[in-house]
Amino acid sequence: MTLSNDFLWGGATAANQAEGGYNLDNRGLANVDLLPLGKDRKSIIKGEKKMLDFDDNHFYPALNAIDMYHHYKDDIKMFAEMGFNVYRMSIAWTRIFPKGDEKEPNEAGLKFYENIFLECKKYGIEPLVTISHFDTPMHLVKDIGSWRNRRMVNYYLNLCKVLFTRYKGLVKYWLTFNEINMLIYAPFEGAGLYVGDLTEKEKKRVIYQAAHNELVASAKATQLAHSIDSNNQIGCMVAAGKYYPYSCDPKDVYEAMLSNRKDYFFSDVQAGGSYPKYMLDMFKREGLNIQMDDGDFKLLSENTVDFVSFSYYMTRVAISNKSGVQMTTGNVFDSVKNPYLKEQSEWGWQIDPLGLRITMIDLYDRYHKPLFIVENGLGAVDKPDKDGKIYDDYRIKYLANHIKAMKDAVEYDGVELLGYTSWGCIDLISAGSGEMKKRYGFIYVDRDNQGKGTLKRSKKKSFNWYKRVIATNGENLDLDIEY
Ligand code: BG6
Repeated sequence: MTLSNDFLWGGATAANQAEGGYNLDNRGLANVDLLPLGKDRKSIIKGEKKMLDFDDNHFYPALNAIDMYHHYKDDIKMFAEMGFNVYRMSIAWTRIFPKGDEKEPNEAGLKFYENIFLECKKYGIEPLVTISHFDTPMHLVKDIGSWRNRRMVNYYLNLCKVLFTRYKGLVKYWLTFNEINMLIYAPFEGAGLYVGDLTEKEKKRVIYQAAHNELVASAKATQLAHSIDSNNQIGCMVAAGKYYPYSCDPKDVYEAMLSNRKDYFFSDVQAGGSYPKYMLDMFKREGLNIQMDDGDFKLLSENTVDFVSFSYYMTRVAISNKSGVQMTTGNVFDSVKNPYLKEQSEWGWQIDPLGLRITMIDLYDRYHKPLFIVENGLGAVDKPDKDGKIYDDYRIKYLANHIKAMKDAVEYDGVELLGYTSWGCIDLISAGSGEMKKRYGFIYVDRDNQGKGTLKRSKKKSFNWYKRVIATNGENLDLDIEY
C-alpha cells in the first residue's frame, strides 16, 4: 500500500462559501460577504473597485450560501458516510468577534463551531481548521484599513487565543491563512485591502506591508498554538501550481523562476523561517519602506510551521514575451496557455495531474516538511437527469488522475504527505466567480446562481467513487462504480 494507514482523507469547505446565516447569532460582516455575483466581482476582489457596503444593484451569494449553518449535521453525516477521517473547514472570524476588536468573544459563535467539532468527533473525523479563509471583519477594514495596519496582528491573535483555548482537545490541525499568497493578486478578497485609489508604487507597498503583517501574525499564532497545546500542528497554506517556462529559452526559464519565487516568498518565510534576500532587496530597490519591528526576524525564524499545505488546481506558464501567445483564464488573473495540455475545465483551467506531482516535489525539496493537499478538484456544471441523478464521470476522471499523481509522488519521489482534502466536497459558492453552478462536490446542493432552490442535498456518482477510494486507502482508483 502506498499511503500510510493513518493517511487523512476528506474534503474542504470555507465558511463564507458554505455557511450562510450571515446575520444570525450576532455575526458581524466580513469582506467576503461583500463580493457580489457578476461582472464587478473580479475588480472588487482585486481591490480596484470599492464595495464596502451592500448596494441594491448586486446580488451577494455568500450571505446565504448553501446554509450549512443549519445543515451541518446532515452534511457531516454524509461526509462520514464517504469515510472522511478529516474535514477541512474555516472559522468566520465575525462569528467569534463580530467587529474584530471586541474584548470578549461572542459565545453563540463559539458554540456553533464547538457543535461542529463535536459532530465531527462523533464520526471520528479530525477537523482541519483554517483560521482565516479570505475572512476579515468589515469593521476593521473600514476603521484601520485592514492588514495594512499592524494592529491587525493583535486582533488576529485575540481570535487565535480564543480558538486554541476553547477548542483544545477538539482541534489539533490548524492553518493560519488560506492561500496567503493570493493577497498579492486579490488584495481585497485576500486581505481586505481596497487599493483602487493608490499609485502603483503605493499599492505595492500596501500589499507587501499587509503580507509582512500576516506573516508576523502567522508566526505568532504558531507560537501561541504550540504553547497552549503541544499537540497542535500548524500549517501554512499557499495557492500552489508551479510555473513552467514556456520554452527552454533561458529568458523563459528565468521568467518562470521569478514567478515561482513571487509565490514561494510566503512559504519561504512560514516554512523556511527567514525572509528571502531577494525580497528584502526588492523592498529596498523600490523604496517600499516596509515597517518591521525589531524582533520580527527572530520571531519568524523561531516559529515555523509544522507542515506545508497547499491548493492545487493547475500549473501556469511563464514567458518572456507574451505577444502572440494564447492566454487561458484563472481564478483572478489570466495566464499563458500551455500548448501541451489538451484538457481544460469549463472555466478554462487547464488540467495537469502530473503538475501536481511536480509541485509536490518542488515544495518538499524546498522545505523538507510534510505536505498536505488541502484543495484540489474540478469545478464543473452538473446537470441532474430526470431522476435527479448526477453522472459526474468527468469529476471522477479528474480526481483519479490527480490522486494517482499524488500517490506517485509519495511512492517514487520521496515526498511525505499527511493527507488529501478535495475542494468543495459539497457544492458551494465559487470564490472566484460567485457562481453556484461551478460545482466541485460529491454532494449536489439544489441552489442556483441567483440563490433559488430547495437546498436539498443529493449524492452524485462521485460520492460512491470517493467512498471506495477512501475505503481502499487510495488503492482502487478504477473509474467504474455502481450508482
Ligand atoms: C481557492 C480557494 O482559491 O480555490 C477557494 O481557497 C476556492 O476558496 C477554490 O473556492 C476554487 O476556486 P473557485 O473560484 O473555482 O471557487
